[in-house]
Amino acid sequence: MGRMLVFRLGGHAKIADEDLALPPANPPAESFASAQIGMGAKLYYTHCVFCHGGMVMPDLRRSGALGDRDSWNQIVIQGALSANGMASFKRWLTSEDAEAIRAYVASEAEVLKSEGREMPIPKTLAQSGNKGQ
Ligand code: HEC
Repeated sequence: MGRMLVFRLGGHAKIADEDLALPPANPPAESFASAQIGMGAKLYYTHCVFCHGGMVMPDLRRSGALGDRDSWNQIVIQGALSANGMASFKRWLTSEDAEAIRAYVASEAEVLKSEGREMPIPKTLAQSGNKGQ
C-alpha cells in the first residue's frame, strides 16, 4: 500500500487528518527471543532500512503482514509483491533470516505502540491540535 503526499508550494489548503492517517502500529501478540531480535536488527539495517526507514515506503511496524509469519515470508522470501517494487530477498536471506527481521520489527512496533507515537506528522500540524491516533 503506497502513500504519496503532494505538497503545493505556497498553497494554503489544509491537509485533512485522514490524508495523514497511517495504520496503527501492529505488534503481534507473539514473543520473540532477544537473540532473534538482535539478529533481525542487523539484517534489517543491512537489507531493509534503505527503503522502509523513511516516509514513503510502507512503515513495516504498521504492516498487516507483521502479525503473520506466512504472509511475511511470502512477501520477503517468495516475492509476492515483487510487481510493486518489493523484490524477493531469497538470494540473500533464508526464511529464518526473514523471521528474525519480523521479530525485530515486531519489537519496534511494540515500542511505537507503547509510546503512543502513532503518526509521524510535521510538528506544526501536531501543535495545531492534531492528536494523531
Ligand atoms: C528497493 C526497496 C525495498 C527494499 C530494500 C525492501 N523493500 Fe519491502 N517494500 C518495498 C516497496 C516498494 C513495498 C510496497 C509494495 C506494495 O505497495 O505492494 C514494500 C512492501 C513491503 C512489505 C509489505 C508492507 C505492507 O504491509 O504494505 C513488507 C512486509 C516488506 N516490504 C518487507 C521488507 C523487508 C523485511 C525488507 C528487508 C529484507 C524489505 N522489505 C526491503 C520496497 C523495498
